[in-house]
Amino acid sequence: YRSLRVALLGGGSVGAQVARALLEDGDELSQRVGARLELVGIAVRDVDAPRSVDLPRELFTTDVDRLILGADVVVELMGGIEPARTHVLKALASGADVVTGNKALLATHGPELFAAAEQVGAQLYYEAAVGGAIPIIRPLRESLAGDRIVRILGIVNGTTNYILDRMDTEGGALEDVLADAQRLGLAEADPTADVDGYDAAQKAAILASLAFHTDVPVEAVHREGMRTVTAAQIASAARSGHVVKLLAICERLTDDDGRDGVSVRVYPAMVSRTHPLAAVHGANNAVFVEAEAAGSLMFYGAGAGGVETSSAVLGDLVSLARRHVVGGPGLAESKHADLPVLDIGQVTTRY
Ligand code: NDP
Ligand code: HSE
Repeated sequence: YRSLRVALLGGGSVGAQVARALLEDGDELSQRVGARLELVGIAVRDVDAPRSVDLPRELFTTDVDRLILGADVVVELMGGIEPARTHVLKALASGADVVTGNKALLATHGPELFAAAEQVGAQLYYEAAVGGAIPIIRPLRESLAGDRIVRILGIVNGTTNYILDRMDTEGGALEDVLADAQRLGLAEADPTADVDGYDAAQKAAILASLAFHTDVPVEAVHREGMRTVTAAQIASAARSGHVVKLLAICERLTDDDGRDGVSVRVYPAMVSRTHPLAAVHGANNAVFVEAEAAGSLMFYGAGAGGVETSSAVLGDLVSLARRHVVGGPGLAESKHADLPVLDIGQVTTRY
């Protein structure tokens, strides 16, 4: 087996889970790749900070530049714009492929990062940046690349969906439910990014750019948060058979002058209770895609969480790592587990 050097930038909620999986499930992942995935280090701010996962102390470093040097794949899970942007650019310039879950960085500097990757023939994957565990980036970029997407309606922020759902099902004022969400550790101490729609706007910009094969800067996204939604509005929506959801709406439109374009908006919207998005409860996310040929598709699941999001990051890592392995299992074929098909027969007919 050859070894692929994986450098992890960030050992927080998501990073620690990625590291745990690489250490605990390394053999299985390596079989799927056809090469050993060697975690060479984890860059953090404080090597002695308590971690959510017990990881070997010697893996931690504050020397990001040194860690990146010689890495085959760099996984950026630090968050924020700087220094993440500088590190990702350095990693790409060195020829390494990069995996990131950083929607803030992609929504503000996506074109710069993709150009940097293209210049050296490196790849930048970001499945975790929208919808946490939900596979939505690759379906838009690959599976639906031959279709024409006309609209995306997304519940892409778990915190605000949790708040609006609780207000709908249990009643109560936004401030009270928000305070509860903060106590549960769901909402940040500073919930601005979620409640005022910045997080959803970043994700909307990423989805629209992919769906419509164009660059949608986050500044071009019309953004209204949900701070002003009242219990009375939710009750009134309920009476008319609707539920209020903070929606990311990405649409292909034609303006009054007949010009084709794209409109991307985030705001609290009335959703009919018969629409599949109305059934997205708690902190879950869903992305409803309308495409000309495929029709309506919905992608649903956990939009956040360290373990859940690590699934998307590891999927990117395995996919990228396979590209390094000539004669390896390849993108489509991975049949090294050698698991027998068990002859069990019918167990239950009700699912
Ligand atoms: P955390 O805040 O939990 O972790 C960030 C990590 O990065 C910490 O280990 C921190 O070090 C390290 N770090 C931050 N700044 C620096 C720096 N300047 N130099 C070195 N290390 C640094 O973030 P998350 O794990 O929650 O999120 C990571 C990324 O994934 C973000 O881009 C986020 O938007 C995205 N994401 C997160 C989801 C989630 O559910 N959490 C869901 C989907 C995407 P230290 O530990 O020492 O402080
Ligand atoms: N704060 C985000 C949310 C985390 O609530 O959806 C996942 O991107």
